[in-house]
Amino acid sequence: MPGTSPAKLTVAVVGATGAVGRTMTKVLLEKRFPMTELRLLASERSAGKTLTVPGWGDLTVELATPDAFEGIDIALFSAGGGTSKELAPEAAKRGCTVIDNSSAWRMEPDIPLVVSQVNPDDLAWHEGIIANPNCSTMQLMPPLMALRDAVGIERVVVDTYQAVSGTGHKAIVELEEQVKAHAEGRPKVASVYPYPIGFNALPQIDVFLDNGYTKEEWKVVTESRKILHLPDLRVSCTAVRVPVFMSHSEAVHVETIAPLAPDEARELFAQVPGVVVQDDPANKVYPLAEHAAGSDLVFVGRVRQDPSIPGNRGLAFWVVSDNLRKGAASNAVEIAEVLVERGWVRKGSERAVAGGTPA
Ligand code: A2P
Repeated sequence: MPGTSPAKLTVAVVGATGAVGRTMTKVLLEKRFPMTELRLLASERSAGKTLTVPGWGDLTVELATPDAFEGIDIALFSAGGGTSKELAPEAAKRGCTVIDNSSAWRMEPDIPLVVSQVNPDDLAWHEGIIANPNCSTMQLMPPLMALRDAVGIERVVVDTYQAVSGTGHKAIVELEEQVKAHAEGRPKVASVYPYPIGFNALPQIDVFLDNGYTKEEWKVVTESRKILHLPDLRVSCTAVRVPVFMSHSEAVHVETIAPLAPDEARELFAQVPGVVVQDDPANKVYPLAEHAAGSDLVFVGRVRQDPSIPGNRGLAFWVVSDNLRKGAASNAVEIAEVLVERGWVRKGSERAVAGGTPA
């Protein structure tokens, strides 16, 4: 039937040996994604090695080349921006739909940038490449969507407390090593970050731009506008790397258009699929990075009125989510699930030609 996705799919993970790539494979299996074949791709550094995948045995890692994408229906990419720039169009040319976790394609106007429960309809017009948002943007979107839809939003200030796993496997190892070095009275050696991350807080994630913001901070600004379909939304961000292994935390301040009480906000947040409100300060209940790790949910708490904005139009809250899962791998798999459910695995233009689904 035109526009209908094949029931069984060949799926590839590109960057399969990395922190996000391994999580992508894990999430595909956990969600029992309807695939008949799973292919693991990476660079020449790990091509030929095997990875043990529960239920699939030992799979040999293949070299990611343009021709490797022949016969692959969906490829989840997390192998860095350069690899995505080079290989995603080659994959798309070969009929493969790419869900790309890098920043290479996110701000291209003709490429959908999608949070699964926020703007899934944008997937309808994909042409073979779909972008997965930055992890810090990702967890911010479901609560902001709830506020946008109920009362409108004018301005957002977000400060992030980001886990080292977002930098990749080597950063996890570096933090572990620095904790050991500290305990043993040795100097902490930094190679991944400009300064030791152990027992520190680094107000630099990625490179600095001419406007004084870092690239990571500016991603939150531009990606939020695109995902929420609010091109004029005023956003400011300070992104900080902290010595946490898993889960990003965010302090969020929102100026709404209509007034909103914290109780109403809690109700709105709780209604969003995939969002859980943990907010009972009297009993020390609030979202924590350690608790969020391993979950696909976005946890929201510490919801309160921001008295610095007049007219009850200011709201402050704390958002925590596992950066490798909802912040990257799980959202990518959720996008793939939407594509299958709606019959949108193939490009929008091909489906339109076939007389199928809406463009
Ligand atoms: P490899 O293990 O072969 O280097 P992380 O972000 O955790 O460091 O992981 C990066 C992932 O991206 C790894 O799986 C890495 O594979 C993969 N990767 C890096 N460069 C390329 C490339 N040029 N082609 C394919 N995969 C790549």
